[in-house]
Amino acid sequence: MTLRPDGIAPHGGQLINRIATPEQKQEFLEKADSLPRVQLDERTTSDLVMIAIGGFSPLTGFMEEADYQSVVDQMRLANGLPWSIPVTLSVDEEVAAPLKEGSLVRLDDPTGRFVGVLELTQKYRYDKQREAINVYRTDEAKHPGVQVVYDQGAVNLSGSVWLLERDPHPQFPKYQIDPAESRALFKEKGWKTVVGFQTRNPIHRAHEYIQKCALETVDGLFLHPLVGATKSDDIPADVRMRCYEIMLEHYYPQDRVILAINPAAMRYAGPREAIFHALVRKNYGCTHFIVGRDHAGVGDYYGTYDAQHIFEEFEPGELGIVPMKFEHAFYCKRTEQMATTKTSPSKPEERIHLSGTKVREMLRRGELPPPQFSRPEVAAELIGAMKGAANA
Ligand code: ADX
Repeated sequence: MTLRPDGIAPHGGQLINRIATPEQKQEFLEKADSLPRVQLDERTTSDLVMIAIGGFSPLTGFMEEADYQSVVDQMRLANGLPWSIPVTLSVDEEVAAPLKEGSLVRLDDPTGRFVGVLELTQKYRYDKQREAINVYRTDEAKHPGVQVVYDQGAVNLSGSVWLLERDPHPQFPKYQIDPAESRALFKEKGWKTVVGFQTRNPIHRAHEYIQKCALETVDGLFLHPLVGATKSDDIPADVRMRCYEIMLEHYYPQDRVILAINPAAMRYAGPREAIFHALVRKNYGCTHFIVGRDHAGVGDYYGTYDAQHIFEEFEPGELGIVPMKFEHAFYCKRTEQMATTKTSPSKPEERIHLSGTKVREMLRRGELPPPQFSRPEVAAELIGAMKGAANA
């Protein structure tokens, strides 16, 4: 981990900024109608944003073939830097065919709005099954991350990108804190060590427990819920953010915690995604990163602690951020507190741990999850959201 006066070094050493300057924007707008167009989906739109704001540093664009192959096969960019998830722009053959390498391509978001520009350097075909097996550890199409790979186009377009404009987030403008800003905030607060927390689920007691255990040993906690594309049965981001607001109001020390959105899409790649999530939080300025049970997992594709073991595949210091690994946490009836098997002498029947699926089922039936699982204010918010969704 390299600490500099401006905080921890971004991945690759330099925080990338690919947001067009006012002059570049003007130039792109003038060319807009004459450029060939590619329409991005929700995920690639968020990837464009993440690249532009430096969340994916050192990437300056969608991956070229050498980086792509090296990431898929060796979890490294072609220059050897650790990187675990391909960041690609895949299109159908018919879309790729007329595009010329060396030219600019206009990127539109799913609504058809002009949002960015790609300087096309390469078009290449790739092996979807190989990507699935290496990155997701399965080639089953029912895995939500693999399904995206199978559904996307057969040709990857690569090259550096520019984001035309950094718009405020339509739902959470207050929590849009980009890497340059989070770094400045940490510095302003005098935090030398900051632990990042990734999440895509409503906050429950086990989340709170591991966040607070981590915070006991560092200066600040960066709560960073993912608000990009998730699978359809995950709880929507606005509900999750409200739960976080409630928690901050009642249960967290305001001066030690920052809540911000992570605009990226979920891949559900378990272990590989844990590395990716850590590198992204390093770019936001975190020195530490929480990895609990089945991080970024889905179904039973990954072992409970696979996402922790994968960190051992890198030399200490190579990733430049310290993973803080937590065992499966639960409420222990015997000691009347949150715990793990490391800290509690309980028998399995004395432990309360509910899966996200079980809680969703309870909420659908209108039942409040117990206070040992969820803070009552959060449970009430979730029930209300479920009712609202059912009546909509
Ligand atoms: S994730 O897909 O973003 O990993 P989730 O929001 O549920 O899903 O988890 C956020 C973080 O909390 C992850 O690091 C995960 O491993 C950890 N976590 C979730 N539940 C528990 C638990 N009961 N015990 C320990 N860690 C947990």
